[in-house]
This record gives sequence, C-alpha cells and structure tokens, in this order.
Amino acid sequence: MTNYDVIIIGAGPGGYVCAIRCAQLGLKTAVVEGRGTLGGTCLNVGCIPSKALLHASHQLHEAVHNFTKMGLRGAAPTVDWGQMQAYKDDVIGQNTKGIEYLFKKNGVTWIKGWGRLRDARTVEVNGKAYAANSIVVATGSESAALSSVRVDEKVIVSSTGALALKDVPRRLIVIGAGVIGLELGSVYSRLGSDVEVIEFLDHVAPGMDKDVQAAFEKLLRKQGIRFTLGAAVQSVAANDDGAVVKYALREDSSEHNVEADVILVATGRRPFSDGLGLGELGVETTANGQIKIDGHWQTSLPGVYAIGDVISGPMLAHKAEDEGIAVAEVISGRVGHVNYDVIPSVIYTHPEVASVGKTEDQLKDEGHAYKVGRFSFMGNGRAKAIFAGDGFVKLLADAETGRLLGCHMIGPGAGDLIHEICVAMEFGAGADDVAHTCHAHPTFSEAVREAALACGDGAIHA
Ligand code: NAI
Repeated sequence: MTNYDVIIIGAGPGGYVCAIRCAQLGLKTAVVEGRGTLGGTCLNVGCIPSKALLHASHQLHEAVHNFTKMGLRGAAPTVDWGQMQAYKDDVIGQNTKGIEYLFKKNGVTWIKGWGRLRDARTVEVNGKAYAANSIVVATGSESAALSSVRVDEKVIVSSTGALALKDVPRRLIVIGAGVIGLELGSVYSRLGSDVEVIEFLDHVAPGMDKDVQAAFEKLLRKQGIRFTLGAAVQSVAANDDGAVVKYALREDSSEHNVEADVILVATGRRPFSDGLGLGELGVETTANGQIKIDGHWQTSLPGVYAIGDVISGPMLAHKAEDEGIAVAEVISGRVGHVNYDVIPSVIYTHPEVASVGKTEDQLKDEGHAYKVGRFSFMGNGRAKAIFAGDGFVKLLADAETGRLLGCHMIGPGAGDLIHEICVAMEFGAGADDVAHTCHAHPTFSEAVREAALACGDGAIHA
C-alpha cells in the first residue's frame, strides 16, 4: 500500500489548490479524481465554460448594438454554434491540462477513480487501498433540481446541459434568477433566444444589495430578458415540442403554464458527498447535507478534513481555494486562515455585478450606524466611451470611523474592481484611505475612488 502524507478527494478548485499547496509545503500528496479531467465542476462544466460562452455572446451583442455607433460597418456576425462549442471546449481543455501540468510540476499524484473512505487513514479507489496521515474531502456540489422535476440534460437541463445544448433554443425558460440563471440566461438571450426567467422571490440575484438587485433587473429587462417574479414553479413536463412549466403566482395563488423548447433549472446546488462512506464512519453532517467541521476544517473524524461546497458558506470556487490553502497549512503544522468577512461575489453578466462585505439591509438589521458613498458610471469618462455608463459603485462605511464595511457595484469590470475594496477591507482601511489613493485616469476604477470620496466631502464628477 502506498503511503501519503495527504490524500485529497476531488480535484475541483478546492481540492487541486489544496494539493498544490500541500506539495509546496513538502507533503507527499495524492488527489483522487474520477472525472476524466482535473478541475472539477468549475473548469469542466461551470465557471470556465460559462465564461467562454459569455465572452462570445457579448462580442455578438457588441457587434449588433454598438459597432455602427463607432463607425464599424458591415453585417453583424451570425452564430456558428458548433464552432462556439468547439471554442468553449478548447478553453476547458487548456485549463484542465494546465492543472495536470501543475500536478506534475509539483509532484502531486493523480489517483484516477472514485474514492471511498475505508477508515480515517485509508481511501479505497477501484478496490485498491491508499493510506494517508490526513484526508481532505473536497467533493463539491451538485445541481439541486426541484424534487418534482426530472432533468434529462436535453430539454430539461441543469447548468451542465445548458452549456452543451444541441442548438440555440428559440424559447428558453430559466427557473431561478440566481447566478447560474442570470449568466446562462444572458448567454442565450444575446444569442437570439427568447428568454423568460421565473423566480420565486420578488427580486433577482438573491443575497445581493437591494439597490444592485433593482438596477440589475432593470438592465436585464432592457436587454430583452423577461422576468416573472414572485412565482413558485411547481412542475415541468416534457412534451413533443419542448416542455411546459407550471407555476403559481405567490400574490394570488393563480396557476399558469408556459412552454419553451428548453428549460434550465437553476434553483441552487447541494453538497455532494454520496458514496464516500462518511455516514458509515460517523462523520457528522448538517440537515442540508453539509459536512460539519471545526475551526480548523477538521470533521468529526480526526484526521479527516473538508473544504469547499461540501461544507458551509457560499458555494464559490475562490472560497474553496482559500480553504484549500488554509487546510494545507493546518496539516503541515502552520496556522491556516480564511477571512470569511471578505469573500467577493461576482455575476459575470454584462454589466458585471460584484459585491463584498455587508449589504445595507444587513447593516440595518445589525443596528450598525453606516454611511453610503455612491457614484454612477455615467460620471466615468472611460465607461461612457465604451457605452457602459449604466450602473454604479456603492460603498458602505462605518458612520463614525469610516471603516469600509461593504461594497456593491454593477458596471464595467466590476468583477475586477471589487478587489481594490477586498484588499482595503483586509487591511481594515477606511473610505478616506481609498479616496486618498491616486487612481489612474481614465479607468473604471476611478468610480470606486469617487464612491469613496462620496463617503466624505463628496465625489468630484457627480
Ligand atoms: P442560487 O441559489 O443563486 O439561485 C437559485 C434561485 O432559484 C433563487 O433565487 C431561488 O429563489 C430560486 N428558486 C428556487 N426554487 C424555485 C421555484 N420552485 N420556483 C422559482 N424559483 C425558485 O442558485 P444557482 O443560480 O443555481 O447557483 C448555485 C450555486 O452556484 C450558487 O451558490 C452560486 O453562488 C454558485 N455559482 C456561482 C457563480 C459565480 O460566482 N459567478 C456562477 C454559477 C454558480
């Protein structure tokens, strides 16, 4: 039996990052992964392929809506769906092979197959046992379709099927106005599908700041996406032409049926730990199926750790990566640290939406006295030059000390801009620290500085 210092189960962003850091810290490391390629959901059927389709469809949107304004004439391109899929698959391939390269470079062993814990020191893969001093469970999550809905990945699809449809559908219904629904709904809307999003809540983008939710919904409606909010989907039934979605409006309980060629069920994800044998070993889980951990990511079985979507917290690749690094440090005898108060969240639509820290409602609920600094991208020259003046940056700072408490934005490059505030928050900075920092002109980041100025004596270009 081969003995390792650490065996990690799952090669998604949590698991593969943990493995590389373990190896860098001198631990003999193996990763068990049953999928044919490394990278987990994120690289194979999640973050990365969706970004390729978002990029391609955005290029088309620009060609159709903005090229002539800039004096670029000629017919807008048409969609070659086969080539777009090939481009997406190539992007996936480059990234998953990149992880293989990093494993080789760092001396991480890939044990191919699905792992199962025999005990707290042994992982079984294809009938063979592998021993380790520490085991890290990084098995991620799976799509949580409604119990009444049977996903066939052709007509009724999860995000996985939605990334590889046979054709661009004429009519697409998206159930759930969360991150997946809005990103993939945007892709198909830009590619020409008639997209309707049906959402249980009265707003889009659950968990985001209210002002951002309202502005985001307005912009997406302007882009042509239709929304039915306050509607609980009850069933989805496939028929010869596609499928029928039955929903009830919450305000009057009236029932409605709508039809489409394809239905995307984007109603959340749940932790995935099936077949690991955790129950038999007495590893404690919550009612939602999340593995319970202590302050050092250790499960109730000493020597067995868990990170990423399979434990509590936001189901985000970067949160899993941070936990992967932290747990590698804990296992090698160092102090692992994740600041759960500063985990950014991004929706990669156009414009992008980004958020970190507390929302205004959370501060109100906590009774925390705060001030708001807000700046519209309409006042940002660079944004206007690229037809991206819609949106704003909203900063929340402690009313007395000015310490940054949260930032919520919708606008060009928001997913990158947010990190200035993440770093500032990590350092315990105040809005005035950001306001006093010179920002290059002309950049989108000036909008962040202007929002910081608005927390004090006022923005300049407002
Ligand atoms: P979500 O939890 O973000 O949104 C699901 C939505 O479905 C909610 O708004 C919910 O109210 C609605 N819903 C649930 N049941 C319904 C029903 N019966 N009828 C109508 N609406 C219903 O889940 P989503 O979008 O599936 O994403 C799953 C996870 O993946 C999230 O944790 C998300 O953070 C993560 N993710 C992150 C991305 C990013 O960071 N850019 C991209 C994609 C996914």
